Formats: sequence, C-alpha cells, structure tokens
Amino acid sequence: MKNIAIFASGTGSNATKIVDHFNQHPSINVALIISNKKTAKVLDMAKSKAIPTLLINRTSFYQTENLLTDLTNHQIDFIALAGFLWLIPPYLVKAFPNKMVNIHPALLPKYGGKGMYGQHVHQAVRENNELESGITLHYVNEQYDEGSIIFQATCPVLITDSAKDIAQNVLALEHYYFPRILEGLLG
Ligand code: GAR
Repeated sequence: MKNIAIFASGTGSNATKIVDHFNQHPSINVALIISNKKTAKVLDMAKSKAIPTLLINRTSFYQTENLLTDLTNHQIDFIALAGFLWLIPPYLVKAFPNKMVNIHPALLPKYGGKGMYGQHVHQAVRENNELESGITLHYVNEQYDEGSIIFQATCPVLITDSAKDIAQNVLALEHYYFPRILEGLLG
C-alpha cells in the first residue's frame, strides 16, 4: 500500500476528489491530511471520512523537522499539495525527492510565484486577455511553482469569461486530472 499525505489550506475540493478517487483503492491510500489553518474546511472533510489530520504551525514547520516524524509515523510515501500556500522548506523537499507534487491553477511558467494563487491567478489571466488557461502539476522544489512539470491541461478563455468563469473551468480540470495523474505516478 502506498500512503499519500495531502497538504491543503482551504476548501479542499481537490483533496475531496483525491480522497474519493482512492476510496477502496487496492494499493493507494490517503493516510493523512495536513493543514496550516485550524478553520480550513478540508479538515472537516477529513474528519467526516475518518482520515487522520494534522494541524501545523509556521514556527514548527520552518524551524524544526518534527513534521518528518509525523510523516514517518503515518508511513507516508508521497505528498500532494492541493491548495497549500506555504513555501516548502528544504528538509521536506529533500525527504521526498520527486515524491511531492503541487497543483497550480495556470499554465506555468506563466502566472506562478509568490502571491500567485487562487483568484489572483485568474484575475491576471483575465487582465492579460489570454486565450487559454489551464492547470499544471509539477514536482516541488524550494521555489514557488518552479519544480519540473509533470502534466498540463488547457481550457479556452473566452472574451466573455470573467475571472470567476475561468476559475470554474480550471477547477473542473483540476478535479478530473489531479487524482488520475497521482494514480499514474504512484502506480
Ligand atoms: C486550487 O485551484 C489550486 O490549484 C490552488 O488553490 C486551489 C485550492 O482549491 N493552488 C494554488 O493557487 C497554489 N499556488 P481547493 O481547496 O478547493 O482544492
């Protein structure tokens, strides 16, 4: 059995899709959901599905390596960042070489980097009159959104699309592809 930990800071709609996709899977299991936000909806989802959760704080995350012990205790093989907005510290990158992926709601290398998350991305795509947007799945390194790209999928951006419309179309791509690409990487 390969065990995934999902890191998420927010709603957790991607985390939910991943959990549902691997429910009853013969060889892949979501073993832990980690959040930096006590009130994040993703933690309610995890509890409702009896998945162990871990709340982390900034000091411990950046100034200790205690998280590695938690990940070992839960026998975590692979990490999926699904709307997790903190930069990953070097000790964690080193512990999961090519075993940690992030999903980004744009076609990297465009619209990446610090501050480029969620609605900020879609607003920038709208303002620049892009003809397409999409998703990027990439390995995680010490820089925001810079690890090597594993997969991208695109959707058209119509002139009539608002940033909210773009967000919806991109999220639909994320929900479809993220669990499937993970399954391919872990299979
Ligand atoms: C997703 O769209 C994800 O791509 C984005 O946060 C959203 C989380 O939604 N991540 C980033 O912007 C990272 N830079 P969710 O909580 O509903 O899964």
